[in-house]
Amino acid sequence: MWFKVRLLAVRRFQTARSYNEFEHRRSLCYSIGVNKLFRLGVLGSGKGSNFAAIADAIDAGKIPAQVGVVLSDVEGAGILAHARGREMASQFIPPGKFRTKLDEDAERGYVAALQAARVDLIVLAGFMRVLKGDFLRAFEGRIVNIHPSLLPSFPGLESWKQALDHGVKVTGCTVHFVDAGVDAGPIIGQQTVPVLDNDTPESLHQRIHAVEHDLYPKCVAALARGEISVLGRRVLWRKS
Ligand code: GRF
Repeated sequence: MWFKVRLLAVRRFQTARSYNEFEHRRSLCYSIGVNKLFRLGVLGSGKGSNFAAIADAIDAGKIPAQVGVVLSDVEGAGILAHARGREMASQFIPPGKFRTKLDEDAERGYVAALQAARVDLIVLAGFMRVLKGDFLRAFEGRIVNIHPSLLPSFPGLESWKQALDHGVKVTGCTVHFVDAGVDAGPIIGQQTVPVLDNDTPESLHQRIHAVEHDLYPKCVAALARGEISVLGRRVLWRKS
């Protein structure tokens, strides 16, 4: 049997205050006989179409990563069915007593499951709870989310409806790092969607959703390839 000693750059995506700090946080490790593949932990509460788009992009060789585990706070969520259908590790973890966040026990359960799956990046794909304290500390700078508006406009719920009600002519979607704010972390990528005169909230939401399936896999691929660095609030893309 061949044992190869490979020196691997462990890509870290911790939000850094300066480029130097980011470079500093890069670390090197030795790995024996293991070709370490970037691992994703995916969290979702809904149907999981963004997760499916990312999984399809992995299968098509467009994202150099594998899904370590899929977790949901909703037992019957479509995202868990998608994961099972693809024979990926998945788990329903009850969220506890709160409506909009995880309680402490649940938070510990999510952190433990993600650590056990040895994930490098947490991908929120329609996870309907705000992540706090210990969860954020455990994965600082390594959590990303997709939001259905051009942030910082229209954070929070039903952003497509907020955009329509406000009368903007262009909206879209945003992939961003997650920090302690709501839909507030550094922006990784955005894609626009025109608002049409005859749009309803549903038609606009549908077109935003379609564009998300293009943007999210591209951003996750760039993260997995180590092409993303963070300079203050600015996220820089560089070709590897
Ligand atoms: C998407 O619209 C995303 O922007 C928001 O939640 C929705 C998830 O949809 N964060 P799906 O479960 O991926 O289909």
